[in-house]
Amino acid sequence: MARIGVTGLGTMGAALALNMADRGFDVAVHNRTEAVVDEFMEGTGSLSDRFTPVKSLEALVDALTPPRAVLIMVKAGDPVDAVIDALVPLLDKGDLIIDAGNADFNDTRRRTARVTDEGIGFLGMGVSGGEEGARHGPSIMVGGTEDLYRPVQDIIEAIAARYQDDPCAAWLGPDGAGHFVKTVHNGIEYADMQFIAEVFGILNASGRSYADQADLFAEWNGGPLQSYLIEITAEILRARDSETGAPVLDVIVDKAGQKGTGRWTVIEALKLGQSATAIEAAVAARSWSAEADARAKAEETYPTGTTRMSHVLDGDLEKALLAARMIGYGQGFALLSAASRHFDWSLDLARIAEIWRAGCIIRSSLLDDISSAARDGLPHDQLILAPGIAPRLADAVEGLRRVVLASMEEGVPVPGLAAALSYFDTYRRARGTTNMIQAQRDFFGRHGFERRDRDGTGFHGPWAESD
Ligand code: 6PG
Repeated sequence: MARIGVTGLGTMGAALALNMADRGFDVAVHNRTEAVVDEFMEGTGSLSDRFTPVKSLEALVDALTPPRAVLIMVKAGDPVDAVIDALVPLLDKGDLIIDAGNADFNDTRRRTARVTDEGIGFLGMGVSGGEEGARHGPSIMVGGTEDLYRPVQDIIEAIAARYQDDPCAAWLGPDGAGHFVKTVHNGIEYADMQFIAEVFGILNASGRSYADQADLFAEWNGGPLQSYLIEITAEILRARDSETGAPVLDVIVDKAGQKGTGRWTVIEALKLGQSATAIEAAVAARSWSAEADARAKAEETYPTGTTRMSHVLDGDLEKALLAARMIGYGQGFALLSAASRHFDWSLDLARIAEIWRAGCIIRSSLLDDISSAARDGLPHDQLILAPGIAPRLADAVEGLRRVVLASMEEGVPVPGLAAALSYFDTYRRARGTTNMIQAQRDFFGRHGFERRDRDGTGFHGPWAESD
């Protein structure tokens, strides 16, 4: 009998199943298209004895030691509901379903309630690290009740990445907490990728060759920017298309895909009264990238000419990326704090930062500092106010400012970097300019305002005196 079942043997499901077998667990494997199970088994090599291949969900359930645990790794959305609907009648009370895909946490909450009603447990589990991570050690963010996590904790910790000896897996909170944290992880990922893409644009506009840029990113990866995304950027800049021999970046259409997690982050941020503007800029840039025809027409209408940037220092670009990254993470963590309060999840922000230190796409050396800062408590929920972060941000942000200024002068688009800088500049003013907004609201709608010199609300301006 197998310890756990996996249904959905696409790239991620197959990699997770192999990872489990590698760690010594017996796994029953299923896929809706039966041939995929055979193909999977052909690739299991010396691990094949660990697998029980099955051709139906009934057989999957029969192959498991009770109380059963079935991990679902299918396309987000309706396919997950379809598998749950098919599984629930086959399972017994006390069995467990784990959704390891990138689910919208609202769906996870709904599914948790639906399955719990039938006496079956549900864990919504975010898994980060792409195929390589899933196969050899992802970062794993688990949501659901803690008592459901304990029986499968050994499997989850065994397959997770390790940061030194610490498994990058944790139970984070009830119902949708795991998927929410994974969503925010992806939002931060979107922002970081966008910042890098913008710096790539600036370097291109400065006439720097890909080889030169690759060296620069590789060098940055040895410093405070050390991270998976910077590392792979250097590699990408060096890569050549196997068919044409051209730099691979030259053959790729500049139209970015998105499956929804970035957008979900922004939507949830807005619902919680938060601003994740750097992440929003990254989502917007991907959306605009899809409008290729309109962009071509716009370039015809407003010709850019040849852009030549010459006055951006490498050190400033490095600082710009670092400052923007701090702000991107900061917006993500502020959102996590807000969600934790709103849903009463008691999220351990420091632990979240810790389990992101290895395995996941946003792993970076900065996360070590972020986890220490979060462990000490973030002032006003703001990472950018943490004593361990603030002096570094203050230093780096001036590089960000010079980079944004130079880019804007030349019309080189930097929506992500500019959003990060604007957030910083807006946030650090104790007295901003929304007094004007309040005056306008009162002027046209008698909405009332608070006064600086008196307690209370509902004061009106002189424009209201005539009525
Ligand atoms: C990860 C990635 C992973 C995947 C996303 C990317 O953490 O391993 O985030 O979940 O790459 O699906 O999302 P987009 O397709 O929206 O870029």
